[in-house]
Amino acid sequence: MNEDMTAYISGVREMMYTRAGGVPMAYVRTYGCQQNAADGEKIKGLLAQMGFEFTGSDQEADLIIFNTCAVREHAEDRVFGNVGALKNLKRRKPGLIIGVCGCMTEQQQVAERLQKTFPFVNMVFGTHVLHRLPEMLHQILAESQRVMLLGHEEKAIREDIPIRRDGRSRAWVTAMYGCDNFCSYCIVPYVRGREKSRRLDDIYNECRSLVESGYKEITLLGQNVNSYGKGLTEQVNFAQLLARLDSIDGDFRLRFMTSHPKDASKELFDVMAASRHIPHHIHLPFQSGNDRVLSEMNRRYDREKYLSLTAYARKVMPDVSFTSDVIVGFPGETYEEFLDTLSLIKEVEFVNLFTFIYSPRPGTKAAGMLDPISHDEKTRWFAELLKVQEGIAVNNCKKLVGDRQRVLVEGRDQKTGLLSGRTASSLVALFPGEDSLVGEFVDVEVTEAKGWSLLGRMI
Ligand code: SAH
Ligand code: SF4
Ligand code: F3S
Repeated sequence: MNEDMTAYISGVREMMYTRAGGVPMAYVRTYGCQQNAADGEKIKGLLAQMGFEFTGSDQEADLIIFNTCAVREHAEDRVFGNVGALKNLKRRKPGLIIGVCGCMTEQQQVAERLQKTFPFVNMVFGTHVLHRLPEMLHQILAESQRVMLLGHEEKAIREDIPIRRDGRSRAWVTAMYGCDNFCSYCIVPYVRGREKSRRLDDIYNECRSLVESGYKEITLLGQNVNSYGKGLTEQVNFAQLLARLDSIDGDFRLRFMTSHPKDASKELFDVMAASRHIPHHIHLPFQSGNDRVLSEMNRRYDREKYLSLTAYARKVMPDVSFTSDVIVGFPGETYEEFLDTLSLIKEVEFVNLFTFIYSPRPGTKAAGMLDPISHDEKTRWFAELLKVQEGIAVNNCKKLVGDRQRVLVEGRDQKTGLLSGRTASSLVALFPGEDSLVGEFVDVEVTEAKGWSLLGRMI
């Protein structure tokens, strides 16, 4: 951390204490994917250094930050609605500071709209300038200015930003930032910039210290972790990174997301099969089961390649399970082509699917494509897909009855009051037990399948 940053931090700490009349409270709300969640933890890390404590209620806050997602239109609409709703709060509490950051703000027209339509928003900042948060707050407090900072990508990765983790047993660790793939429907490469990998030693040291401090699950993050290593001076690929991290001693799970099928290698599955810490589970988004659609999506693999990957993974890990992302109603997709997606789902039997109706993102290639199918029609296809997947997921859970599963306990299920945890394949398992087991691994015998989740008892 440089001297300027340290000076801003102590300046903000003093001014905020005075302004709030005591310890200032921050409410940080994060939308979108795990990458954004990881950014949210850095924002909180910086805020904690500036003397903030955290609240889950906007009413109590002296500072509100919305860390936004731009991946679908719906995500953006929600943010516009929620920011708009702060107007009254700000009227009652004029000292309140409001900031909007994250992927939405990286689109020039959106940042300008935020700035214009919401004059009570004090700061709008992009995904590449998180480390300048102390400076931005300083400017607002000392000079009563509104701040809009949509900085450029820095060449080097900032390793000096403190992290305040949301969980005590599960942690996110970024392996690589950005995305170079430009899938034709996707806004991420525009808002997150080019791929940049962290140095292996930085990742290793972070993971080792997490394990030493008792974390039980580490998830490596990247939009396409399989292209990890590109641009680093050391010669290393993702499979090698995993193998190195797997050498860390301790009782923990090592997960990763997301794997792009075009770069998934046999070596990756071999490392998983031989590992001590990596569950035999992989999130491998296929998006569509039809070759023409895949090509229009610029995914750079075809159905056959996808199926050969899952077949190889099953060969080296007979107990492997898959989850995936899928898009319904890509521009120009016909019902027949959609049926190829359905058949792929039936063939692979995913334990869980993250399903999306195509949403046009201004500035992407697909947004300019002809899209003759109505939203109603797409919604019908979507419902058909959900029904098929539900059958598969429920069936999969039924097959597990009588099995023993290792579960990492996450907390208590609100509805049933039972302990709730995740199996290796990330299925929810519910069972009776003491609060002290939260954050621990326990062995559970599955006694019943309840829809998408498992009921059981500890062994
Ligand atoms: N990097 C990851 C995906 C990140 S976005 C990967 O390549 O797999 C998460 C998911 O959102 C994508 O997998 C895709 O299924 C969905 N998605 C992205 N853009 C979308 C859009 N414009 N409309 C609908 N779904 C979209
Ligand atoms: Fe988007 Fe494709 Fe990059 Fe994933 S790989 S973030 S879907 S462009
Ligand atoms: Fe959304 Fe940005 Fe993630 S657009 S999905 S928060 S990378």
